Amino acid sequence: MSGFSFFDYRDDELNIEAVGLLQIAEQFGTPCYVYSRAAIAAAYQEFDAAFAGSDHLICYAVKANSNLAILNLLARFGSGFDIVSGGELQRVLKAGGDPQKIVFSGVGKNTNEIRQALAANILCFNVESKAELIVLNQLANKMNKIAPVSLRVNPNVDAKTHPYISTGLKENKFGISTDEAEAIYLCAKDFTNIRFTGLDCHIGSQLTEISPFVQASEKILGLLDRLETKGIEIEHLDLGGGLGIRYTDETPPSIKDYVSALCTSTAQHNKRLLIEPGRSLVGNAGLLLTKIEYLKQTPDKNFAVVDAAMNDLLRPALYDAHHEILPVVRNKHATKTYQIVGPICETGDFLGHNRELSLSDGDLLAVMSAGAYGMTMSSNYNTRPRAAEIMIDGDNIHLIRARESIEQLIAGEKVLPE
Ligand code: LLP
Repeated sequence: MSGFSFFDYRDDELNIEAVGLLQIAEQFGTPCYVYSRAAIAAAYQEFDAAFAGSDHLICYAVKANSNLAILNLLARFGSGFDIVSGGELQRVLKAGGDPQKIVFSGVGKNTNEIRQALAANILCFNVESKAELIVLNQLANKMNKIAPVSLRVNPNVDAKTHPYISTGLKENKFGISTDEAEAIYLCAKDFTNIRFTGLDCHIGSQLTEISPFVQASEKILGLLDRLETKGIEIEHLDLGGGLGIRYTDETPPSIKDYVSALCTSTAQHNKRLLIEPGRSLVGNAGLLLTKIEYLKQTPDKNFAVVDAAMNDLLRPALYDAHHEILPVVRNKHATKTYQIVGPICETGDFLGHNRELSLSDGDLLAVMSAGAYGMTMSSNYNTRPRAAEIMIDGDNIHLIRARESIEQLIAGEKVLPE
């Protein structure tokens, strides 16, 4: 079970830290997300230690998992945050995040979001187009502020990941080409209320090799050199997120090796380094706990219909992503090949295909590596209330988000008058 070191079987029952999952299911019901505080702490510390004292800021990508308890935990460790919306900004501030450690990414920031971030005095806007820069300059002017900016450069590097989460190729909607970015930095004086403080890139997510990161960093450094010879001062480099995790048999670089490679590639330039990891901080710190409603045999297949669905964990349906699925109580009986599917009326509603398991009605299953892009991508499709979230800390159990109720879900809706 490498990759899941805070999850282990004790007397054939899957535990998360010191707590058995049977108890969690009994206390909170299913489906629910269960996280390990120690796993998040260990990942953060591995990142932080790998920088070995060099000037850096880890800006956790809030989109991976935005529960307030997780944001608060990371804020207490000293983490910064990468946000992509006004909503994420509000969450980070509410969780005690330091505005001077917030970077704001995204291709489509609206004027309200920009105003909120200017008012909060965030560390940096990662700007993705000239049009956005013009709007930011105008809004900052009206608010009598100077907006700190990095241009997000699109380095045209192949991240070799799923096309939906690859962002650093020139045909993608993200960032600005190095040539255009250079031209914009050189017109800095036209933007009276902008201060260019950094250079930014993010080439994609779930990368399992180091080389695309290094290639992107080299492109950014080339631009940095050109800017510096023309007298433009840059304070920090933001190399984005994207480090992959092990879902099944992937072999991504370790956090330590990844950070070392970034530090080595940028060492001569002696700049403050920012990174925006999401998945690698929380992905393997959480699982989705679900119960088998029915075992169903058709002439072709064995189905285990569980109470979690694509609305709870969209990744298999959207990216054909593989998550390991483990029995909460393991046994040595004969196995069968199962399709693990949810109750939603779509064939795309599955959590796993062709899994060798020994199952009975009512059994609990753990869908592993679900800490990142699980809850945050969940929806209410089929009027299904969102799952509860629970954080384990040693032998302490904390409910960090109550299961949604149908009342909450329809509270804003109204029928037309007669
Ligand atoms: N920075 C920026 C600007 C990003 O767009 C992202 C992710 C990150 C950082 C964090 O990337 P990470 O370290 O987590 O790879 N829903 C997909 C992943 C989408 C990633 C979007 N951007 C999934 O479930 O695989």
